[in-house]
Amino acid sequence: MSAIDPTVAAVLAEAQRAPSAHNAQPWRLVALGDDTVELHYDHLDYLPFDPDDRDAYLALGAYYETLSLAAQRHGRRSHISLRFTRSGSDLHVGDISVRPATAADGPADPLAGPATDRHTNRLRYDRSPVPAALAADLTGLGNVLVEPRAIARLVAQASVLSWQDRRFVTDLRRWTHADPATPAGMTPEGLALTRTEWAALRVAFRAGHLPASVARAYASRDVRLLRQSVGVCVLGAPSLSPADLFDAGRRLLRSWVTIGGAGWASHPISIAVDRPETAPQVAALAGVAVPVAVYRIGHPTASVPRSNRRPLQETLRA
Ligand SMILES: Cc1cc2nc3c(=O)[nH]c(=O)nc-3n(C[C@H](O)[C@H](O)[C@H](O)COP(=O)(O)O)c2cc1C
Repeated sequence: MSAIDPTVAAVLAEAQRAPSAHNAQPWRLVALGDDTVELHYDHLDYLPFDPDDRDAYLALGAYYETLSLAAQRHGRRSHISLRFTRSGSDLHVGDISVRPATAADGPADPLAGPATDRHTNRLRYDRSPVPAALAADLTGLGNVLVEPRAIARLVAQASVLSWQDRRFVTDLRRWTHADPATPAGMTPEGLALTRTEWAALRVAFRAGHLPASVARAYASRDVRLLRQSVGVCVLGAPSLSPADLFDAGRRLLRSWVTIGGAGWASHPISIAVDRPETAPQVAALAGVAVPVAVYRIGHPTASVPRSNRRPLQETLRA
């Protein structure tokens, strides 16, 4: 493995804070030189219930955007040459270089600073209306603000279907751990679960799937949070192609950093776009070609602890 320049290593370490579904952190790196890495994704090491790899490409786009903003905090600029070449279970996503900024690059991106504090907040938000300037920024990034009650109905339908589906419960079980120090995946604290909710989740893990009547009870929490929301965003993409999803992941990250930078919070609730039964209805509601993410936004009532990450060394492949 080539030795990585210390500043580039610092950029890569900060890029580990990127968001990913279930906090699975599916990015893998191979050092090519002191300032260049290959970005990879392993299909075997992620989500069995991500059939079109939507969440994987979104996470990889969000990873690269997080890295790009980190590079700018260090007086660097990054560049990616996308490849998307598959060999077996491995996907070579692209090659990333991180070089010193020059005068021609202009000032650093204004989102570079706020990106350090990006996080998901799954608590209740207050009822402050979405500021017009924030709504305009989100629209500019390809989000559509939709009626919360309409999306809550679709999430209820998708959630009941998902809890009856073994693949969904298997994914959740694989990535949810009681140990608060787990470096990847979700914890009950991170998911903001009460003790009763965590106990109920473990019952579902043991059962493998749930009957419709019980599934409705499990769905109720996200549905309630959505109904109470002052804002729900749907992010659209032109298609499910790897390049379009990767670009959508970059816009998703910029959306969440923009929200956090304005002192607001965000909470993705992907289930309605994960299910083929409800995704077309989300598309129709938002008027987008392909809906790739749904998330509620609001003014937070309390802060949440930071989620864990793998150390950079565990992401680097020989
Ligand atoms: C593509 C994508 C889909 C996600 N879907 C959900 C979701 O359905 N429900 C949820 O609670 N969090 C969801 N998340 C948030 C992740 O769980 C979260 O980013 C991760 O646990 C890391 O935590 P952090 O965002 O606080 O850094 C999603 C994140 C991404 C990037």
